[in-house]
Amino acid sequence: MGEASDKLLWWQKGTIYQVYPRSFMDSNGDGVGDLQGIISRLDYLEWLGVSAVWVSPIYPSPMADFGYDISDYTAIHPMFGSMDDFDELLAEVHRRNLKLILDLVPNHTSSEHPWFKESRSSRNNPKRDWYLWQDPAPDGGPPNNWLSTFGGSAWEKDEQTGQYYYHAYLKEQPDLNWRNPEVQEAMLDVMRFWLDKGVDGFRVDVMWHMIKDEQYRNNPTNPDYTPDMPPFKKQIAAYSVDQPEVHQVVTKMRHLLDQYEERVMIGEIYLSVDKLVTYYGNENDEAHLPFNFQLISLPWEARQIARAIDQYEGALPANAWPNWVLGNHDKPRIASRVGKPQARIAAMLLLTLRGTPTLYYGDELGMQDVFIPAGQVQDPWEKNEPGLGLGRDPVRTPMQWNAADGAGFTTATPWLPLSANYKEDNVEVEQQDSSSFLNFYRRLIALRQAEPALYAGRYIPLPAGQSVIAYFREAEGKRFLIVLNLSHSPASLTLKEGMEGEVVLSSLSTEEKRKVKGEISLRGDEGLIIGV
Ligand code: NOJ
Repeated sequence: MGEASDKLLWWQKGTIYQVYPRSFMDSNGDGVGDLQGIISRLDYLEWLGVSAVWVSPIYPSPMADFGYDISDYTAIHPMFGSMDDFDELLAEVHRRNLKLILDLVPNHTSSEHPWFKESRSSRNNPKRDWYLWQDPAPDGGPPNNWLSTFGGSAWEKDEQTGQYYYHAYLKEQPDLNWRNPEVQEAMLDVMRFWLDKGVDGFRVDVMWHMIKDEQYRNNPTNPDYTPDMPPFKKQIAAYSVDQPEVHQVVTKMRHLLDQYEERVMIGEIYLSVDKLVTYYGNENDEAHLPFNFQLISLPWEARQIARAIDQYEGALPANAWPNWVLGNHDKPRIASRVGKPQARIAAMLLLTLRGTPTLYYGDELGMQDVFIPAGQVQDPWEKNEPGLGLGRDPVRTPMQWNAADGAGFTTATPWLPLSANYKEDNVEVEQQDSSSFLNFYRRLIALRQAEPALYAGRYIPLPAGQSVIAYFREAEGKRFLIVLNLSHSPASLTLKEGMEGEVVLSSLSTEEKRKVKGEISLRGDEGLIIGV
């Protein structure tokens, strides 16, 4: 079902844009992006037509995992600026009628956080139970077989106190004990701090990780593991993630949010659709938007994607609002994964499916993964498990603003190398070319935001051939037919008798006024939005 467009909230109607702050815009010439940099580029985001900006972590951090290891939840890392800069950013975002979403990382802190320093100081420290401490196994080894996502055992021995602590990611990122009410209260206070300032919501890091099996049972081995998967997939994480009690803590977070007006909670959750949708809550009292990563994870194959859309639509609980994500700072860029012509088709999917779209900075330029020479690797995952293709640096390279040295991102040496093609693929060049990737994206966003059928309407799938996805979106008496060719070869779709329409947007041309009737012929890599 769609919803009446006038009842929808901002996070249902609009498009979310993810900024990876280290790589968006450097204002002070140190090669790393910062808050003043983001402020200086807000006009661009307004021009692009997005509605909300989600900023990856900007808090004090030793940067072992580039900000996802937080040592102070209610301050700003000096590298990014000051709290005054933050207040200015928030005010400037709001002045443009945009929204600001912060990254909240409640599952783990930095090992440099004062809470952890206290916790590790002795077995009877009052904060000992704030983290997950366990005695060694009888042989002196780790308490169980749980693996860290970033490689090796998820347990680290603390020699001083003789116990192990659990870290789902780096050993510099100890997991908090969310069964402890004091931990819950402390993190709710963090949320209050930012909500009181007026931030519009949170993207909650690894939401499905927050509670672990109380008995710390061993995870079973994964019979479907193949060597092309990351090593941590050797296990099925039956006991270390997605435990039933996680829903209680997510509900508590949501209740807090609900005390403020129109704030949004987005959950980062990598689970199958049937499990993912449980994070909406039984009464729609958990995450507003459990991130739906299917467009990132599915093979680029029309029938599989069409089926997945239907399964997702069918699995959504009553009144749950769908969402789609095409890229983020952890996954290969879409233009690298499917190629640039198909990346336009992907953008059409993202922006015409039912539900809130989230796009990753630079994807609107068609930015591609950048090869990182061994000596320039930054990502700790690549350093821990080199050569397996797990590193995330290639998708985190600086935004390409113009053809100047430093791509308009910095006047210094950027913290990660620039793409070799930044002189052609950049905002300034693409803005001037009406057929560019960027202008195509902008037209798509504008069309979506102008048409209730697209942002609020019903989704009605249509049968189509092997390489085509087709569906209607309709609301308030207006209807669009979306037809996408996911292959490089021509394809066609036969319309029901009597149906005719006019193309309003094509992935292949700017001046498309084609009328359609009977059979629609699609060129290779062509996607059409048709008013019918
Ligand atoms: C998910 C984040 O998106 C990723 O970048 C980070 O490394 C892990 N969580 C750990 O916080």
